[in-house]
Amino acid sequence: MHNRPIAVFDSGVGGLSVLRELIRVMPEENFLYFGDSANAPYGDKTTQEIRTLTLRHAQELFSRRIKALVVACNTATSAAISELRAQYPDKIIIGIEPALKLAVTHFPKGRILVMATEATLRERKFAFLMERFGQRCDICKCPCPGLVEYVERGELTGAAVEDAVREELNGCLDRPPDAIVLGCTHYPFLRGAIRAVVGETPEILDGADGTAKETKRRLSDAGLLRTGLPGRVELTNSLPTPQLMRLSEQLLSAE
Ligand code: DGL
Repeated sequence: MHNRPIAVFDSGVGGLSVLRELIRVMPEENFLYFGDSANAPYGDKTTQEIRTLTLRHAQELFSRRIKALVVACNTATSAAISELRAQYPDKIIIGIEPALKLAVTHFPKGRILVMATEATLRERKFAFLMERFGQRCDICKCPCPGLVEYVERGELTGAAVEDAVREELNGCLDRPPDAIVLGCTHYPFLRGAIRAVVGETPEILDGADGTAKETKRRLSDAGLLRTGLPGRVELTNSLPTPQLMRLSEQLLSAE
C-alpha cells in the first residue's frame, strides 16, 4: 500500500504547480498526475459539468490502485469535493482551496484580491471561506476568464499575457492590495506577469504549500507515508500531444 502512487488531478497543466510542492514536501512518494487538458478550462463550465468530469476522472484514478487523491484544482474542489467524499468515504481525498486564511492571517484588516475562475468564486465553498475568514478584510473577487488558456498554451510571459492580467484586474486595482491570492492552480505559472502588473508590494500567495502539507499529514495519520528511495513521477493527460507533454515537464521543473 505504501508504494502506491498519490494521484494528483487538475483540469489541465495547472495542478503541476501543486505537484511540484507535493514532491518537495514528500520526495519519497510515487505520484501519478492526470491533467484533463482536453476539457480545459473547467472554470467557465456549469457546476454539473465540472462535477461530472471530476467524478469520472476520480473513478478512473481510483481504479489504478492509488493511495490518495489530491484534487489540485480549485474549480473541481469547489464543485465536486463533497460528492467525491460521499462516493468514496474510505479514501483519502484532499482538495485545494484559495489561500484566503493565510492572506487574512498576514493582513488581518488588509485589502486582499482573490484571482480565481468564475466557477470557484460563485460556488458556496468560497462564500463559506469569505464568511469564515474574510469578515474584517476588504476582499475583492477577481474572476479571470482567459488566463488558464495562456498557461495551457505555454505562453507565460510577454506583453499579451501581461495585458490580459491587467484587463482582468482592472476593476480591483483602484486601491493597492496588500495580498493577492492565486485561487487557481494555473496562475502560479503567471506569477511573473502578475508581478509586472501589480508591482513589488503585494504579497502573492497560493494554496500549494498548504495542500502538500495537509496531504502529508493525512498520509502520516493513516500510516501510509513512503520512506526510502526517491519516488517516481508519472505525468499523464487527456490530450497527450508531444507539445503538451513537453510543456508539462517544463512546468514541473519551473522555478
Ligand atoms: N486549475 C484550475 C483551478 O485551480 C481550473 C482552471 C480551469 O480549468 O478553468 O481552478
